[in-house]
Amino acid sequence: DWNMPDYISEAVEKIREQVGTDHVILGLSGGVDSSVAAALIHRAIGDQLTCVFVDHGLLRLDEGKMVMDMFGKNLGVKVIHVDATEQFMGKLAGVTDPEAKRKIIGAEFVEVFQAEAGKLKDAKWLAQGTIYPDVIESAGKGKKGAHTIKSHHNVGGLPETLNLKLLEPLRELFKDEVRKLGVALGLPHEMVYRHPFPGPGLGVRILGEVKMEYADLLRRADAIFIEELRNTPIPLAAELAAGEGHGAFHKNWYDATSQAFAVFLPVKSVGVMGDGRTYEYVVALRAVQTLDFMTAHWAHLPHDLLGKVSNRIINEVRGINRVVYDISGKPPATIEWE
Ligand code: XMP
Repeated sequence: DWNMPDYISEAVEKIREQVGTDHVILGLSGGVDSSVAAALIHRAIGDQLTCVFVDHGLLRLDEGKMVMDMFGKNLGVKVIHVDATEQFMGKLAGVTDPEAKRKIIGAEFVEVFQAEAGKLKDAKWLAQGTIYPDVIESAGKGKKGAHTIKSHHNVGGLPETLNLKLLEPLRELFKDEVRKLGVALGLPHEMVYRHPFPGPGLGVRILGEVKMEYADLLRRADAIFIEELRNTPIPLAAELAAGEGHGAFHKNWYDATSQAFAVFLPVKSVGVMGDGRTYEYVVALRAVQTLDFMTAHWAHLPHDLLGKVSNRIINEVRGINRVVYDISGKPPATIEWE
């Protein structure tokens, strides 16, 4: 049994002992782990912590503003917001291969972060939201390497070049513990229980070449999908049929799915709108249920919900005139389309 107030005061004490009066930098991504690490470290050392939030232009709708509001305004954490959209877009121009895109985004991320970190001359520590499963996974890297299907980039690999000491206060925690800790530290429930979002962001949800025009359309379509999932209650019977099997009771379809998002397909199809003919892009909706993300089932979302999402996207996002639903399991398909 876990006594949260005791845990927090012990963790805070430990961080204070470790860093003393030193300064710490942390790469904030908006994800659960780095957010909880930031909140905990800030609780311990306040203004000795500076967060760097690198915005690659491939985040979800309003995500940059949300991160800045929550940490900067609400929690009073020092956050440097680096809008590197142009830089990332420049590097991605003309690149279509999924792995090449991941490598570019990962490398660019390290570069931008490093440049910012270099300006913070006082910093002696690099804080990371590494959690226990990450520790286990990287211990097994050697064995797994040859079979890697997608190269996942997280903020790993930074410390060697920066010459900073590593601060990883979540190293012993599992994901569910990290979430509980986040809520206890005052982070909003909604952000702490958000679906995972890949490091390369919309870069792997826009098939082929990444363009800002596509990213802007995709963000709006995705936000509509997520909003409708959150607003649609899930009846108990449907939940039992979905058979997630860990005994949690979900309030809505967002909670009942492990990951859900829209994918941009850069192909045009014909449609009608009023008296006119349209020739516009396609969006695919993806929603899956899984425990470990190694295998996954497509979510049996109600047809009414899918219909409403489709109507809203086509009516509200000019430039998209067709919406399809992905009914592929993993394997053989993967969760992301790239
Ligand atoms: P796949 O598509 O391989 O995804 O079935 C499994 C899980 O991993 C996430 N994913 C990534 N996460 N960087 C990340 O940080 C990546 O490049 C990446 N690719 C996939 C995906 O969102 C899903 O949760």
